[in-house]
Amino acid sequence: MKTQNIKINNPFNPQFGRTPDVFLGRDNVVNEFVSGLDDINSMNRATIIAGVRGSGKTAILSDVKSLIVDKNRIVIDTTIFDGFLTDIIDQAIKQSAKNILKKIPYLTSLSALSFGVGITPQNATHIPGFKSIITDIAEENKNKQIVFILDEVHNKSHEMREFIATYQHLVRDGFDVAILMAGTPDSVFDILNDKVLTFFRSAYRVYLKNIDIRLVAYDYNVIFQNEVLAHEAAEASYGYPYLIQLVGYYLYKDRHRDLQRTILQSKIELFRNVHELIFYGLSDGDKRFLNAMNNGENIVSFSDIVVKMGVAKNYASSYRRRLLDSGLIEEVGYGKLRFALPYMGEFLLEISRMI
Ligand SMILES: Nc1ncnc2c1ncn2[C@@H]1O[C@H](COP(=O)(O)OP(=O)(O)OP(=O)(O)O)[C@@H](O)[C@H]1O
Ligand SMILES: [Mg+2]
Repeated sequence: MKTQNIKINNPFNPQFGRTPDVFLGRDNVVNEFVSGLDDINSMNRATIIAGVRGSGKTAILSDVKSLIVDKNRIVIDTTIFDGFLTDIIDQAIKQSAKNILKKIPYLTSLSALSFGVGITPQNATHIPGFKSIITDIAEENKNKQIVFILDEVHNKSHEMREFIATYQHLVRDGFDVAILMAGTPDSVFDILNDKVLTFFRSAYRVYLKNIDIRLVAYDYNVIFQNEVLAHEAAEASYGYPYLIQLVGYYLYKDRHRDLQRTILQSKIELFRNVHELIFYGLSDGDKRFLNAMNNGENIVSFSDIVVKMGVAKNYASSYRRRLLDSGLIEEVGYGKLRFALPYMGEFLLEISRMI
């Protein structure tokens, strides 16, 4: 029998950093920010999203960007890395009217290339700072709205401080600007507690939760046309965005044959790309707390953890706080905790057997 060579594209894509085709449950956060762009007083105009690895922060930013790119807007989309301010200037110049270089002659000497690699132009006697450059560019684009989309925000960068000071200055001067940022819960926590970056405290905050399982099951069923399978697969994903893609991807690839095998494949990828990376960044105290918490129950009481750790309550409390702030554990009722990431308990057991 001749094998048919039909190429069917898998609708799932378990890659980090882009909006997947099957993208669900984030309409609120996306719409709130996008509709806020029409209202200069909207509290969503400065929004900060916090979420653990794989919760879908970058997917939201990309989705927002795709919805708002427009000739009446300058949409600047970057990640916090050394040199991101020059990236912002490059993008702003590229989206300005062609005559911007004539209007602001000093920009010519700060060509994209010299900016990109951080070379100071030799014949430039005076190079304005970031704030002046962006203000001059904004002045020349008065008819346009400027939206900044910043991924992986943290407070460890000097440039971040300069950027925020500039942004606040633009707001004070009445420019039509908005900002959408995303970072891990611990980075966002550090930013919100930063004595200098007080601006963030008034920003609208969104803490990403898992997607409602019913939505996941619904979308799986549209693709797999099998309600029972869709429901079981959705439960196995816990609504955690990266797992929604992994489970969907392997189930599709496997032609919906074996859910257990799909879950196993998904967990291998999940542990490698999320749990391990997080685990190796934890302190010994954090790991001790997590291991003490791992008693096979879904919900564990803090007092049991203290007993199991065999330490003073205050000591255990400081680790509880740290792990809550980093989004790895969640409070469910008074004194009750659970792991925020799916299959964390299983992972901890596996890793303790290995080391
Ligand atoms: N709302 C969603 N519905 C379904 N899948 C999603 C959703 N959001 C993100 N995903 C998928 O989850 C995975 C992780 O998404 P993303 O890269 O946006 O996470 P992140 O929070 O930015 O992670 P990191 O902290 O590593 O940057 C990707 O495979 C993406 O396709
Ligand atoms: Mg990301």
